[in-house]
Amino acid sequence: MPAITARAPGKVILFGEHAVIYGRPAIAVPVTQIQAKATLLGAPFALAGQVWIYAPDVNLQSDLYQLPESHSFRILFQLIMQELNISRLPALRLRINSSIPVAAGLGSGAAVSVAVLRAISSFVGHPLNDERVCALAYQVEKVYHGTPSGIDNTVIAYARPIYFVKGQPFELLRVSQPFTLVIADSGVKSPTLAAVGGVRTRWQTDPAAFDSLFDQAAAIAREARLMIEKGLPDQLGPLMDENHKILQQIGVSCPELDHLVASARQAGALGAKLSGAGQGGNIIALTNQDKAVDVARALEQTGATRTIITSVASSNG
Ligand code: MEV
Repeated sequence: MPAITARAPGKVILFGEHAVIYGRPAIAVPVTQIQAKATLLGAPFALAGQVWIYAPDVNLQSDLYQLPESHSFRILFQLIMQELNISRLPALRLRINSSIPVAAGLGSGAAVSVAVLRAISSFVGHPLNDERVCALAYQVEKVYHGTPSGIDNTVIAYARPIYFVKGQPFELLRVSQPFTLVIADSGVKSPTLAAVGGVRTRWQTDPAAFDSLFDQAAAIAREARLMIEKGLPDQLGPLMDENHKILQQIGVSCPELDHLVASARQAGALGAKLSGAGQGGNIIALTNQDKAVDVARALEQTGATRTIITSVASSNG
């Protein structure tokens, strides 16, 4: 049987992270420069049902069934076998490579889930559509992130800019005028589960204050959507600055992120904010296309461990 390869992009949240868990709207876009890739090969000399997993980026090399039952790969295989009503798979070798850094707010977990679900379902001759891939990847997100909104698996499964409200059908965003983002990694690892759990604890302590912050983030996301659809992306800069202030008050920024946001603005960005769960991970800065390289260089000089320049358009990230 020929090898099957499936890919899924990374993502950034443009507006509304955290608030989206509490029912407010958010905007996310795919980032195609970084990807998770799953390759499946048959293993003709192994016993049926045997699955060998090789994921060098996370130092994993194991028989699937030697992994704990709660491991994401165990859950992925179980979900897909249930979905396709398969009791036993042929012997397989699954290799996962990802250029999406883990615990950095760029959707690495959801991208691996999406790529693996696509690869397995194609391998057995029943490729799942985006909707089913998205729904199954959400099940894995729930095990790993506690109370995920579903925005990560959605933007990654559909690989298009989205306007997202938890529990509602998502909307594809019409990007009337493409715009440029610089993504910069603080190098500080921050698991989503911890950041999301911290916000929940603080929200429980002072729900009125936090609901008001979430409402402010919601108003920004709605305004940003209008600007994107009207083809006025420069207007997103001040909205990003405002959203960053709210995220600081929610308690998910940190000195490294604040420092990068300030550097981006100093270097000529139109606005900047942390992106994703925060407390580490990445920031995004909006720039004119001709300034992007300068802003990226300035961010690297002031501590970013990696920068990516990406263009946001309707068709891809
Ligand atoms: C993570 O990309 C965005 C968060 O809002 C978590 C979620 O929505 O599930 C922090």
